[in-house]
Amino acid sequence: MAEIVIVPTAADAGALVADEIVRLVSARPDAVLGLATGSTPLPVYEALRPRLAGVDVSRVRGFALDEYVGIDPQHPESYRSVITREVVEPLGLNPDLIQTPNGALATIEHAGEDYEAAIAAAGGVDLQILGIGTSGHIGFNEPGSSFASRTRVKTLIEQTRADNARFFDSVDDVPMHCITQGLGTILAARHLFLLAFGEGKARAIAGAVEGPVTSSLPGSAIQLHEHVTVVVDEAAASQLRNADYYRYAYANKPAWQGL
Ligand code: GLP
Repeated sequence: MAEIVIVPTAADAGALVADEIVRLVSARPDAVLGLATGSTPLPVYEALRPRLAGVDVSRVRGFALDEYVGIDPQHPESYRSVITREVVEPLGLNPDLIQTPNGALATIEHAGEDYEAAIAAAGGVDLQILGIGTSGHIGFNEPGSSFASRTRVKTLIEQTRADNARFFDSVDDVPMHCITQGLGTILAARHLFLLAFGEGKARAIAGAVEGPVTSSLPGSAIQLHEHVTVVVDEAAASQLRNADYYRYAYANKPAWQGL
């Protein structure tokens, strides 16, 4: 079972995950981080900034989950730009060691394979940060995605385009296709952190954690992974049937177990 940690605020969640990342990078300076975009991981990146001061991050490697297809990498809302602006620059990471899937049309046919090869060459992802979409997607794996899937091109559902329209001038400007790590790729990371905040994520979280394992709710793939930490605020936890047990288990967790 995933470990469910219910915290009062998103900032508390950010601090918890950031502490774990600092522990990892201190022990392994060339750790491989799985980076996510969207608003959910921002508290993690904010909490990391002061905590990484004095930690050598020059060898930290990173792989983003996904990218829009056909978007100019210089576009402020390309995930390459977002990762650069929100993660690489503020945390002082080496941009040459941080990769995003290549959404360029000219090379799109083999971009998935190339990305998989790069992750494999890095030795795999040590710690993967995940948000969850209202459709239950992780990365951009929309409902119906295979649990065995690897990095590939997907078509975004209308709901996801509507959710992401806030980053563009209009919903019509949100690209229709994306390239995303597959569920199989994500499941190969060594430790998954799934975060969610707010009422709007409560249904997706309940489905991912307690619902049937089904490709209709891609986030439920986490139930197949042996090391998952789900960090949610009270609102996102509000539809979890066993919330009291999760609170009890976390409060009484032996300290030596770590996260
Ligand atoms: C986006 C991203 C996902 C993200 C999700 C939720 O479309 N591709 O990686 O987890 O949707 O976004 P947010 O955190 O802004 O709610």
